[in-house]
Order: sequence, then C-alpha cells, then structure tokens
Amino acid sequence: MEKYRQRCRDFFSGLWPAEEKVLVFGEGQSDHPPVMLIGEAPGEQETLQRRPFVGKAGKNLDGFLEAVALRREEIYISNVVKVRPTKVSARGSVSNRPPNREELALFTPWLREEILLVQPRLLVTLGNTALHALLGDGVTIGQLHGQTQQATVRFSGSEGTFALFPLYHPASIIYNRALQAVYEEDLRALRGVLDAGGR
Ligand code: URA
Repeated sequence: MEKYRQRCRDFFSGLWPAEEKVLVFGEGQSDHPPVMLIGEAPGEQETLQRRPFVGKAGKNLDGFLEAVALRREEIYISNVVKVRPTKVSARGSVSNRPPNREELALFTPWLREEILLVQPRLLVTLGNTALHALLGDGVTIGQLHGQTQQATVRFSGSEGTFALFPLYHPASIIYNRALQAVYEEDLRALRGVLDAGGR
C-alpha cells in the first residue's frame, strides 16, 4: 500500500501545488479483509487526525461494527475522495460539502486501484457517493440498499468482480430518523451475508 500512497501523494501535490491538501488514506486490514468499507470523503476530524471515520463519524462506525460483530482492525476502511471537500461561508467559516464532479473524477480511479490492491471479500458502500463510484449514476441507494450486488472494478488492464453490499450513509440516518429501522434491518442482512460467507 505504501507505494500506492506515495504515487497518490505525488499525483495530487503535482496537481494542486499551491494548496496543502491533506490526503486521508484508507486504513486497517489491507490483505483480503472480510469487508472494505467505503465512505464519501474525510471531514474535519479525519483531516486533523489523518484517519478515516474518526470523531463523530467514528462513533457511527462503532455502532456499525457492533451490529455486524466485526472489529475495526479486521476490516479495511476508506473513502472515495481522500481530501476534505470544504466550502467557506460569507462570514468565513469553513464547513464540509459533498465532493464535486472534478473531485470524484480525480479520485475514483484511485479507489478502483485501491480495491484491486486490497482484494476485499465484500465491498460495503456507505451512501450514494460510494455506490455511484462503483456502479455508476444510474442506480440509487434507495433502490439497492441491503441487497448484494456485483461490481466489476477495472484499473489499468486489471479487473476484478466483487460482491458489493450498499448501505445508507450512517450520517444520513441522523438527518432522517425514518431510515433508522431500515438501516438496522440492512445491518442484519449484512450480518447474514457475512455468516453465509463463513465470516
Ligand atoms: N468520515 C469519513 O471518513 N467518511 C465519511 O464518509 C464521513 C465521515
């Protein structure tokens, strides 16, 4: 993984020489983990600590891990976009925003390569951004959540087909309480998928 990271750093520092953007890479078990979890992009805490899913998002992740009976260190955790997308208000305060088209186009090939390096037994996408990065914009999380899909991942002459289990993004549950029961049902289904695979 270190070579991948170094190439990624070189690529983005060449692309955005004036800006000191912090890249937040994936972490965890990077050799055939039972699950590779893919979020959208790092936020403020992730950028400060240079780790995905820490702070408030990390608390959500703990709930997820408990529900599916997995430990953080036995899975691999990453994001589609590896820099924090921000906007600045008229008053000058900085906040998160969804990744834009340019960021998605730049980072998606790096995600594909990362998946082919890690070779997870199951991809778990959180929310629409990660789902679209792997299955295209023609599907939505509302249609596919909780149902195992197949994703063919291609990068530079290599190719792999992976089982993909789409989940709502845990942050969206906070803003839409009605999704809570659906999300919990999806987590039970995911546990069933992991059990069926002997994990
Ligand atoms: N933190 C992350 O690392 N990714 C997300 O998608 C949300 C919060």
